[in-house]
Amino acid sequence: MSDVTIREMILSDIEAVCEIENKSFTTPWSKNAFIDEIKNNKLAYYIVIKSGKSVVGYAGMWLILDEAHITNVAIHPNYRGKGLANHLINGVLDSCKQKKIQKVTLEVREYNKTAISLYKKFGFYEFGKRIGYYTDTKEDAIIMWLDMDCNNIID
Ligand SMILES: CC(C)(COP(=O)(O)OP(=O)(O)OC[C@H]1O[C@@H](n2cnc3c(N)ncnc32)[C@H](O)[C@@H]1OP(=O)(O)O)[C@@H](O)C(=O)NCCC(=O)NCCS
Repeated sequence: MSDVTIREMILSDIEAVCEIENKSFTTPWSKNAFIDEIKNNKLAYYIVIKSGKSVVGYAGMWLILDEAHITNVAIHPNYRGKGLANHLINGVLDSCKQKKIQKVTLEVREYNKTAISLYKKFGFYEFGKRIGYYTDTKEDAIIMWLDMDCNNIID
């Protein structure tokens, strides 16, 4: 897609972000949770990906010393399978580089093979599990890590 841009999330994006969140997750974050992240959480950093004027995805992280903890990643269902998550993760890792982050971590549901495959493309590796972490399905959380000392950005 040619008209794709990435920038930091602002409050007026949250309506669109919540629509994507609700379509993407069985236990979505509330609107207030996103507002609180943007307004009050000094550790939080969120980006959106736009196609033209529409917000079509987003990602967030908490920056704790030299580690980034990815909190959410989603692309609107109508825009999936077009390489947008690749752009989004590139955007996340670009921000991490600028902020001198050394390691990036996240948790993903064990049956979310799409997301696991996405993260592995960027060099994330599985390191640990939280057994039965997701209370709705009792799925395990796979803990993944990425070391930022190699070239993680994909062209
Ligand atoms: C996971 C998600 C962000 C991928 O977004 P997307 O824009 O469709 O992904 P892309 O088209 O950029 O594909 C990137 C990579 O993801 C993986 N992927 C995408 N669709 C896939 C599919 N249907 N099956 C398997 N892997 C897939 C592949 O590794 C792909 O790389 P490739 O294009 O080289 O094969 C999207 O499916 C989503 O929002 N899911 C719901 C929310 C979610 O699960 N978030 C992750 C929580 S940890």
